[in-house]
Amino acid sequence: MDLRWSCLGFLLIYGFSGSVLGDQEGFLSLSCGGSTSFVDSSNISWVPDDDYVSTGNGTTVNFIEGSSTSRVPLRFFLDSQEGRKCYKLPVKNISSVVLIRPQFFYKNYDGLGKPPAFQVSLGTATITTVNLTNSDPWVEEFIWPVTKDTVPFCFLSILDGGVPVISSLEVRPLPDGAYRSGMGNLTNKSLRKHYRVNCGNNTSTRYPVDPYDRIWDADLNFSPSHLSTGFNIQLPFNLLGIKESPPLSVLQSARVLARKNILTYNFPLDKLGDYHIILYFAGILPVSPSFDILVNGDVVSYNYTVKNSEAGMLFFSFKGIQSLNMTFRNISFYPQVNAIEVYEIVDIPLEASSTTVSALQVIQQSTGLDLGWQDDPCAPTPWKHIGCEGSLVTSLEIFGIDLRAISPTFGDLLDLKTLDLHNTSLTGEIQNLGSLQQLEKLNLSFNHLTSFGSDFATLVSLQILDLQNNSLQGTVPDNLGNLKGLHLLNLENNKLQGTLPQSLNRENLEVRTSGNICLSFSTLSCNDIYSNSSIETPHVTMFNPTKHNGHNRKALIIGITCGVLCALLFIAFLVFIYRREKGSKFTSTAGTSSEMRNWNATKVLTCKEIKAATSNFKEIIGRGSFGSVYLGKLQDGKLVAVKVRFDQTPLGADSFINEVYLLSQVRHQNLVSLEGFCHESKQQILIYEYLSGGSLADNLYGSNSKNVTLSWVRRLKIAVDAAKGLDYLHNGSNPRIIHRDVKSSNILLDSEMNAKVCDFGLSKQISQADVTHVTTVVKGTAGYLDPEYYSTQQLTEKSDVYSFGVVLLELICGREPLCHSGNPDSYNLVLWAKPYLQAGAFEIVDDCLKGTFDMESMRRAASVAARSVERDASQRPTMAEVLAELKEAYGIQLSYVTSRGHLN
Ligand SMILES: *[C@@H]1O[C@H](CO)[C@@H](O)[C@H](O)[C@H]1NC(C)=O
Ligand SMILES: *[C@@H]1O[C@H](CO)[C@@H](O)[C@H](O)[C@H]1NC(C)=O
Ligand SMILES: *[C@@H]1O[C@H](CO)[C@@H](O)[C@H](O)[C@H]1NC(C)=O
Ligand SMILES: *[C@@H]1O[C@H](CO)[C@@H](O)[C@H](O)[C@H]1NC(C)=O
Ligand SMILES: *[C@@H]1O[C@H](CO)[C@@H](O)[C@H](O)[C@H]1NC(C)=O
Ligand SMILES: *[C@@H]1O[C@H](CO)[C@@H](O)[C@H](O)[C@H]1NC(C)=O
Ligand SMILES: *[C@@H]1O[C@H](CO)[C@@H](O)[C@H](O)[C@H]1NC(C)=O
Ligand SMILES: *[C@@H]1O[C@H](CO)[C@@H](O)[C@H](O)[C@H]1NC(C)=O
Repeated sequence: MDLRWSCLGFLLIYGFSGSVLGDQEGFLSLSCGGSTSFVDSSNISWVPDDDYVSTGNGTTVNFIEGSSTSRVPLRFFLDSQEGRKCYKLPVKNISSVVLIRPQFFYKNYDGLGKPPAFQVSLGTATITTVNLTNSDPWVEEFIWPVTKDTVPFCFLSILDGGVPVISSLEVRPLPDGAYRSGMGNLTNKSLRKHYRVNCGNNTSTRYPVDPYDRIWDADLNFSPSHLSTGFNIQLPFNLLGIKESPPLSVLQSARVLARKNILTYNFPLDKLGDYHIILYFAGILPVSPSFDILVNGDVVSYNYTVKNSEAGMLFFSFKGIQSLNMTFRNISFYPQVNAIEVYEIVDIPLEASSTTVSALQVIQQSTGLDLGWQDDPCAPTPWKHIGCEGSLVTSLEIFGIDLRAISPTFGDLLDLKTLDLHNTSLTGEIQNLGSLQQLEKLNLSFNHLTSFGSDFATLVSLQILDLQNNSLQGTVPDNLGNLKGLHLLNLENNKLQGTLPQSLNRENLEVRTSGNICLSFSTLSCNDIYSNSSIETPHVTMFNPTKHNGHNRKALIIGITCGVLCALLFIAFLVFIYRREKGSKFTSTAGTSSEMRNWNATKVLTCKEIKAATSNFKEIIGRGSFGSVYLGKLQDGKLVAVKVRFDQTPLGADSFINEVYLLSQVRHQNLVSLEGFCHESKQQILIYEYLSGGSLADNLYGSNSKNVTLSWVRRLKIAVDAAKGLDYLHNGSNPRIIHRDVKSSNILLDSEMNAKVCDFGLSKQISQADVTHVTTVVKGTAGYLDPEYYSTQQLTEKSDVYSFGVVLLELICGREPLCHSGNPDSYNLVLWAKPYLQAGAFEIVDDCLKGTFDMESMRRAASVAARSVERDASQRPTMAEVLAELKEAYGIQLSYVTSRGHLN
């Protein structure tokens, strides 16, 4: 027990003066839920409470007390779970103190037999918990230092506490300066009454005996050995000097020790806390007794003397006590005490700064909504949408509300650490936040913001910045790189492009950029920005040339045998360089030039031969960012696709050799095969088998799609074929390969709609030494890029699964992965479609498939598609699992259409 106490005494002469009592000045007596005004037996005027509270319902309850029936009004607050419900109590004299006395009745007014429990606050202080199970009625008295012209008196519901009720609420002005002694001159403490005893009197008293209408309780331990006003004393008293001004009739009685040496009071306390004790003495005896005063066994006053005809007061504060006893130990004559008050000291939390409060009020107004923000934002409980540390507003989270702009008032919330304004219809520039130096988390996602503004230069504490799903345009500003504490930057699904500042390319910072037009750390420029093109990758789209539709239904293979040895040696040299730079990708299979000669059927051609085969590059059948694709005819009549690249960068050479090497290693019916190549001074030419059906993208969105729409069964067949090709790359080929650029334009169809995967320019073989596949430059195509690979740069087969999942979504929904028009919610195919498909909501299925598919078939395909695009790679199925599931879906649909007798 921490027994720190302070003690001060006042002694004063009492004289004589008339006192004017009973005018009820400044009294406010509210009959809560009542409907009429009335004057009670103490001549106190009561009024209904409607003018002081705007919520709650009124009623009355009858109950039997002793032999008579009583009737009290009450007000109950059904919706108190939604936030504080408050009275606004007017108080006249600022820097005075007032007494506030609520009385709570339950008396089973609702017939439920469940007395409620709830908390009550005054100003910013949660001042007590009312539990009507323990006492009904429940009466409280608080002494409150006035700092404003109204005091909020609020109900705070507690979990399963039921509906708060109140029956009466009284406000009484107290004498100037009363109850401040020993409390410091601060206004940050309130007093909650535990005991106020009229010692030596067995009746309780209040107004008009006490003009301030304090209730002085009877001295319950009053017993015959104690005496009171039997002595002939002078009346009335003049008590100027004792600021608490106890009523004279209270001082006229005392508990006096008559026969024993020790007089003791025991005061049970219901909780551990800090307590304030006031003792009143009056020299009503013809003698001047002296005695020691002990509280909880410690002497707090030695040889205290009550002089005849004088009144006095002592006060003590005790911290951290749970029980209280007081002993008056005899020295001379008879120890006595005339009145005792015991209060719990309740700290009043600081109010939030007025700048903060007014800024928040302006923000509330700008929403056009009543957010229930009144009084203090942090105490007694934080407002909805607000988080606090002490009296500082450190978080503000309003979302799903129309704000439209970040108004300058946000800049006044200087203590904010978290600001979440997602989905608040913000437009234009990110602005007015530059002053928020404490800000650690800023979420402005799902808005329509278009530019970064200049505020980020000063947001030095920022750790998480979420700008996803806005309309941010242009490049990412350099000043983001100055935010040294930043560890997550989410820029997904904006319209950003270009190179990210290198200062963001650091170990402890995760940058999410998928769903932008073209955004990466690479310094290579993005060509062809609006054509949904590859990032740093050759992009080839094969059209279905109408001229050739009638003949050569099958791709033919013709070997051209003009083995130019020097070209081969040149390749060997390049491979050697490549190997040295890339770290032994070729060691297992292509270590020597003799092995290279065995690159299967791949032939080396001269440019001259190719010129002849393509009739001097006459007919373009495809165009990509790094070159064009021409139709060619080899000497034996076989049609080929000739891909001419003009990329002279080292990366371009790498990807060329990479593709030549890998393609020469793999042969599979669902992979486009390489027929030959040519690598001369300024030319990199690849010769593929020619597939007359065009790419899947063409068939879904291009000119082909207008003529014939792909049926669901065809789409599934294409998916199965492509999955077979990819599964072979992952699991069947040697070396095993990650494609890295799976997309619908890299799936080609032959004349019989068999699908083959093409374009291995970015592919990477998986070697044992390379388990984690950490790559320095993330490559792939916007809209298909695995977000986990993008953020962690850890490449696995699951990245292909993700990209293939996007292709499946395209097949199901009949739309492209990124849609630059339309509403922002549907901009990104994955984000838009996944929730629907997971929920089995097939309204997003391609319109031209509606009514033609078997539900189970669609359900399986949709499910595997949705799982393939899980953000967490470990949640995605393997390619083999995808293939198995698609085969099932295909089989189901096949029997569905067969049973219906048509197979389109
Ligand atoms: C009752 O109070 C009013 C003022 O509120 C006063 O005028 C009146 O004299 C009082 N009556 C009694 C009986 O005290
Ligand atoms: C409470 O009051 C509101 C409006 O004043 C009323 O709609 C509602 O029915 C009342 N509820 C009860 C339980 O009396
Ligand atoms: C109210 O008091 C009763 C009886 O002491 C107790 O069972 C109940 O838990 C209390 N309620 C709250 C909310 O403290
Ligand atoms: C309140 O202030 C007014 C004027 O300042 C004064 O006349 C009155 O006595 C004060 N009342 C109390 C209860 O302090
Ligand atoms: C209030 O306290 C401060 C220091 O805490 C003291 O300087 C000042 O004189 C006090 N004022 C009054 C009116 O007691
Ligand atoms: C008790 O107090 C009441 C009201 O103050 C007074 O009328 C009565 O005389 C007192 N009784 C004794 C025994 O002092
Ligand atoms: C008063 O409190 C003290 C300390 O808590 C204790 O030692 C003492 O026994 C108590 N006296 C009585 C009469 O309860
Ligand atoms: C107690 O105080 C009185 C007067 O203040 C004094 O006369 C008396 O001697 C004191 N007694 C003791 C034991 O200190």
